[in-house]
Amino acid sequence: MAVVAPKRISQGLGSSIGGFLINGVLFPIDLVLFLFNLLTPDHKAGHVIPEGHPGFGGKWPGYVPPGDDDSRCSCPALNAMANHGILPHSGRNIPFRELGRLVRETYNFAPTFCFFVPNYAANMLNRNYWKDSFDLADLDAHNCIEHDASLVRVDANEDPDQGKIAQHLVERVLAAGTGKNGNLTKKDLSRLLGERRVESKQNNPKFSLATVHRMFGSSNASTMLTIFGGRMDDLRPFLTEERLPDGWESRIRHRMGLTIFEFNTTVLPVELGIRAEVDGAIEAAGRDRYSQTVAQGKKKA
Ligand SMILES: *[C@@H]1O[C@H](CO)[C@@H](O)[C@H](O)[C@H]1NC(C)=O
Ligand SMILES: *[C@@H]1O[C@H](CO)[C@@H](O)[C@H](O)[C@H]1NC(C)=O
Ligand SMILES: *[C@@H]1O[C@H](CO)[C@@H](O)[C@H](O)[C@H]1NC(C)=O
Repeated sequence: MAVVAPKRISQGLGSSIGGFLINGVLFPIDLVLFLFNLLTPDHKAGHVIPEGHPGFGGKWPGYVPPGDDDSRCSCPALNAMANHGILPHSGRNIPFRELGRLVRETYNFAPTFCFFVPNYAANMLNRNYWKDSFDLADLDAHNCIEHDASLVRVDANEDPDQGKIAQHLVERVLAAGTGKNGNLTKKDLSRLLGERRVESKQNNPKFSLATVHRMFGSSNASTMLTIFGGRMDDLRPFLTEERLPDGWESRIRHRMGLTIFEFNTTVLPVELGIRAEVDGAIEAAGRDRYSQTVAQGKKKA
């Protein structure tokens, strides 16, 4: 016991206790931060990033596109950090523990979010959040974190290299804004996500999308509305080159950043607004593919 207990604690205590910590500790703290944000004035525009940190005064460290040996992944936000050298440019050997702090300083997510996501990722990859490191490409183990029907990547079945930007899909996102000045809205995102789910179901014989991955998908897509404020002139370099434009800072200017609770107020309406999930379009796409497969089989025979 004297030996085992400290070892277990140092190993992060496994997922059963993990669930309790998340619901019983992390979410209440998140709610406190949300209230704190409500009660304190936001940072002034241009002052989100503290002095001495990358991006202060709108100056991001130099952008260098990835080389052949650099590790990249399906997430534009993390790739952009590596392209600017905020994460190692190689995209390799990143301690899970470091990731949260750097994401917070770059995008102004709340500390709770920045603990939750890398911790979740470490658990999914069977690694230890406190001690282990990862390469960006490790995050693309299919159906752990990476999943089908991405807005900016083809499905892994079509191309296992999920670090590769699918420019034709990106252009679709950039053309989809129906808000003021062509900004992206929640409705636009629901529509785009629905289209991609239908398409993937139709074209990808290995398509799958568990509920947790649906929520994941609408969460990372919602980053474009929250952190980027839906603005296409910022989203264009971010999505096409995975670059943070000069002078850019997070549109979330709260002192404690974007809490999970506040994020949910965008993510849930986006996910629940996906019409293709209820009007039968996804099932119909599945039947379509089935009959095409049968027809092809007959032609071959
Ligand atoms: C959300 O992010 C994951 C991991 O980067 C990616 O695999 C997935 O396709 C993304 N979802 C959407 C809807 O873009
Ligand atoms: C839309 O984007 C423009 C700049 O691209 C910005 O000035 C404007 O405030 C945005 N509108 C809304 C409603 O966010
Ligand atoms: C956010 O939404 C998720 C998914 O519905 C839920 O599990 C979680 O409890 C919510 N968290 C907060 C802090 O609102």
